Amino acid sequence: MCGIVAYIGPREAYPVIMKGLKRLEYRGYDSAGVALLDKHNLRVFKKQGRVAVLEESIIGEDLHAHAGIGHTRWATHGEPSDRNAHPHLSASGRLAMIHNGIIENYAQLKTELTKKGYHFKSDTDTEVLLNFIEDIQENNQCSLEESLRIALKRVTGAYVIVLLDRNHPDTLIAARKGSPLVIGIGKGEHFLASDASPIIEYTKEVVYVNDYELAIIKCDELILKNLGNEKITPFVQKLDLELTAIEKGGYDHFMLKEIFEQPDTIFDCLRGRLDAAKGTITMAGVQNNLDKLSQAKRIIMVACGTSWHAGLIAEYIFEEICRIPVEVEYASEFRYRNPVIHPGDVIIAISQSGETADTIVAIEKAKEQGAFIFGVVNVVGSSIARISDAGAYTHAGPEIGVASTKAFTAQLVVLILIALKIAHEKQTLSDERYMMLLSELHAIPEKVKELLHSSRHIRKLAEKYKGVSDALYLGRGNNFPVALEGALKLKEISYIHAEGYPAAEMKHGPIALVDEQLPVVFAAPKSVYHEKLISNIQEIKARKGMVLAVISEGDDVIAKMADDIMTVPLTDELISPLLSVIPLQLFACYLGMAKGFDVDKPRNLAKSVTVE
Ligand code: M6R
Repeated sequence: MCGIVAYIGPREAYPVIMKGLKRLEYRGYDSAGVALLDKHNLRVFKKQGRVAVLEESIIGEDLHAHAGIGHTRWATHGEPSDRNAHPHLSASGRLAMIHNGIIENYAQLKTELTKKGYHFKSDTDTEVLLNFIEDIQENNQCSLEESLRIALKRVTGAYVIVLLDRNHPDTLIAARKGSPLVIGIGKGEHFLASDASPIIEYTKEVVYVNDYELAIIKCDELILKNLGNEKITPFVQKLDLELTAIEKGGYDHFMLKEIFEQPDTIFDCLRGRLDAAKGTITMAGVQNNLDKLSQAKRIIMVACGTSWHAGLIAEYIFEEICRIPVEVEYASEFRYRNPVIHPGDVIIAISQSGETADTIVAIEKAKEQGAFIFGVVNVVGSSIARISDAGAYTHAGPEIGVASTKAFTAQLVVLILIALKIAHEKQTLSDERYMMLLSELHAIPEKVKELLHSSRHIRKLAEKYKGVSDALYLGRGNNFPVALEGALKLKEISYIHAEGYPAAEMKHGPIALVDEQLPVVFAAPKSVYHEKLISNIQEIKARKGMVLAVISEGDDVIAKMADDIMTVPLTDELISPLLSVIPLQLFACYLGMAKGFDVDKPRNLAKSVTVE
């Protein structure tokens, strides 16, 4: 969480930073701030609220500078307020710093500094770290770089920090551990950011900074060092990202754009991998490790949020066609348990951002115990992609809406491809069914396109249901996790309380909630559970609940029973979540829009959760 941007070079720093912050606002939007440094003149402007609020508040100020740092905050230590907004100034006023992450031992450091007479203007861990750095520098009469190195050896937690020193307007100093930092290399200029989106319009040459690395950046020089003060050769990569991918492209909201992009993102995810006619799946990361994957005694999926739901769906698919036992773990729980990992266990880590702190630590824990880690990640070059032993990218392109949509279906596609490849290798799936599933998968992008034609109808339903205060989402088999995902989308985007449940489990408790006020949303595409679901719908109708069902085309039975329906094209039930989830994404999005909420930036949330 939190977005950081920094610039040094011949351009005006302020517009570069503000534009960048707007692109990174999905990472947090509790407050925004900027520090500008020009010829020893250091100015800090910060404000609670969105970047636009900050921008408005500093019209008319002297914003001229060729070096600067900016921050958009997702609050951890201290409420969202002007005084807790970044950048923070050190006690002397000489240093300004932005920070993304959490300093876990900040309380101890604060006590030490308080005993030395330091006073703090904010409640943040960031201000503590900043003063700790300055204190070391003053006591040791050393360079800022050296004091930072000493400080970071004492610090526990996660950080990307960028420092400006009033006495050295030609230099930015940055460090990273556990939070992302990309440096863009221009001609006589450098750009720093939490992801590449603020950088792409200026340069495609980037360096992804690794954990425990420090960067000393001047206009025409980039020096990377480790905490032992040894120089590291920067690994310069070419960005494979276009500006259009991070713009709204005519849609009012990124979330809506991303939902509608799914025919293309699924197609991109399959492209070059699936050849349905030849019956082949080409995925280097899987092929090179096919022995490990197909001989796995157990697969453990670790993920959070929507990615965890993708793992749950994959559990059904892997167990069904690969006959490998699968466990799906919340990364946040897995990391703190003492999980039993045997030789031959494979971890599949699923993450859109590739930066989710809990997932990263869960991977590290499993690695320590000798597990083989396979990453299913969207953001190229992200931490999880880099620490995994092997992996497959989801190729969904930048997902900017805080609620995950196209990344979810792309995760499912990748997981399905892996499962099919393993099942084919193990011969746990008949050749006939294998070929049929490949051809069904091949047809999915067109079917998604087709179902999106019903978006107007779904928008009307959203209008109809916008007044409800609760909703229950039900499904069976691999559409049970679709129910969980539908409920999560509704909660996130429309702030309506929603719960997902296995449909059969309803009678063990949640049925008590059912009355004429409660919409019950069924994820019920054609499957072996069809008759069972019909019974569950009857049970709801008998108690006067409202039934809204996602069904397959031609399902007249449920169509007649339900109050409202959303239809999806027919496909094999094994891969049906790829279709059934999309009406639920649209429903949540339109409902949030109908209620007048900012669906791209739901309250209290941030896109990538880089704190635990
Ligand atoms: O980037 P990741 O996939 O690791 O993120 C995991 C969750 O934080 C994420 O899916 C979150 O639940 C989204 N807000 C869901 O829409």
